[in-house]
Amino acid sequence: MGSVCSDPAAGLCLAITAVLGGMAFGKLKKSPGQMWNRTICLAGLWGITCLLGSSLCWGLVLFSLSCFFLYKYISSQELLPVQQKTILITGTDSGIGHGLAKYLDELGFTVFATVLNENGSGAEELRRTCSSRLSVIQMDVTNSEQIREARRKVEEKVQDRGLWALINNAGILGFPAEGELVPITHFRQCMDVNFFGPVAVTKMFLPLLRKSKGRLVNISSMAAKIRMKKVASYASSKAALTMFSEVLRQELLKWGVKVSVIHPGGFKTNIAGTKETWDKLERSLLDDLSPDVLEDYGQEYILAQRNIIRIFDRAGEADYTPLLLDVHHAIAAKSPFALYTPGKSSFLWHCVISLVPTVVFDYLYKEVDFKTKPRSLSMPVWKKAT
Ligand SMILES: NC(=O)c1ccc[n+]([C@@H]2O[C@H](COP(=O)([O-])OP(=O)(O)OC[C@H]3O[C@@H](n4cnc5c(N)ncnc54)[C@H](OP(=O)(O)O)[C@@H]3O)[C@@H](O)[C@H]2O)c1
Ligand SMILES: *[C@@H]1O[C@H](CO)[C@@H](O)[C@H](O)[C@H]1NC(C)=O
Ligand SMILES: *[C@@H]1O[C@H](CO)[C@@H](O)[C@H](O)[C@H]1NC(C)=O
Ligand SMILES: *[C@@H]1O[C@H](CO)[C@@H](O)[C@H](O)[C@H]1NC(C)=O
Repeated sequence: MGSVCSDPAAGLCLAITAVLGGMAFGKLKKSPGQMWNRTICLAGLWGITCLLGSSLCWGLVLFSLSCFFLYKYISSQELLPVQQKTILITGTDSGIGHGLAKYLDELGFTVFATVLNENGSGAEELRRTCSSRLSVIQMDVTNSEQIREARRKVEEKVQDRGLWALINNAGILGFPAEGELVPITHFRQCMDVNFFGPVAVTKMFLPLLRKSKGRLVNISSMAAKIRMKKVASYASSKAALTMFSEVLRQELLKWGVKVSVIHPGGFKTNIAGTKETWDKLERSLLDDLSPDVLEDYGQEYILAQRNIIRIFDRAGEADYTPLLLDVHHAIAAKSPFALYTPGKSSFLWHCVISLVPTVVFDYLYKEVDFKTKPRSLSMPVWKKAT
């Protein structure tokens, strides 16, 4: 170790480290903010591990190598130019889709913002505030006629250039309640909008994407991987979407189309819905229950289900920036990632769920619950027997 100064190999290592490190550093400054953080941490960790873990000289060799791979990695993360890239986004009436349409329009992309209601206030606002490149198109993702019509309009505009990116964003939450209480019609609705809708839209636009060797991006949800109570219908539809995306990613590789899935954590949007929507959904849930289920759970418990909406609303982040940056990366980076987890809690939960054994996770999560218990579980034992 003491010989490092006299050893010419160590001098060489040092020089290589300096050059490659400098190049990586230069590249880093051009990449988006979040990339910078992660890479700095990575490089720091590597450097320290190498230097501590082996002799100084070998440490320097390893450090140079890691700088080299880092440099390669960062180069592949470079963003492609905007040029005349066209992007179609579903569900831009409100929330994340609406924010994305505005953001990508500002960056200079040509955006096709499809909406559930072309006469709604969201569509109106997009027309008013965005550039003339953006077109608002009517498309309910569950309506095959409207999907076909949308494709016709897009083809008319892009001609032979194809479509660069498709972002499947439209989605509904459904009524968050325990799986046993949720009517089968709610499950079907969630599947229709969150799964069959995006499948139909994707199938319709894939020929245009293959033409441009473009990008497919699905906004799925953290709930697709993380077992969260009270969202059985939503989570299953998102899990189906995620798995479909992962299979398609492998199948589309040969066409040069790259597929990414986004699993956002909680963001403040309209997905929590209005009080009127919840009243209606709750009514249909109560009407659907069989007498024995109603008896066991009790009216009070069922009416307490909607408390979770308040929790969703309180926990949601109002600033979409992490999500917008990630979608931008998925669309524009030379090598986009397969999975993005924007939002405060999403990445952490993904780590926890993949590291902690199922039994332990379920045991810990058992404690997370609301004060109210089902009627027949909260009764004293002697009373139940009678
Ligand atoms: N917010 C979150 O915390 C969060 C977390 C994880 C994942 N996500 C996902 O992110 C996506 C966007 O959600 P968001 O939070 O932005 O909710 P949002 O504000 O309700 O946005 C969803 C959009 O989809 C539209 N839509 C609903 N049904 C449709 C249909 N059949 N055809 C076409 N468009 C339809 C909605 O239109 P209307 O406004 O007219 O209903 C709305 O514009 C969803 O896929 C959601 O699952 C959100
Ligand atoms: C890490 O990234 C965040 C968000 O992009 C930024 O606000 C913060 O300053 C960054 N931290 C460092 C050390 O670069
Ligand atoms: C929007 O308004 C036009 C004209 O009134 C009507 O033809 C169209 O059906 C409306 N679209 C929707 C989705 O309600
Ligand atoms: C998005 O979902 C649709 C429908 O499930 C699927 O066809 C497509 O491959 C998915 N793509 C991505 C990027 O998730």
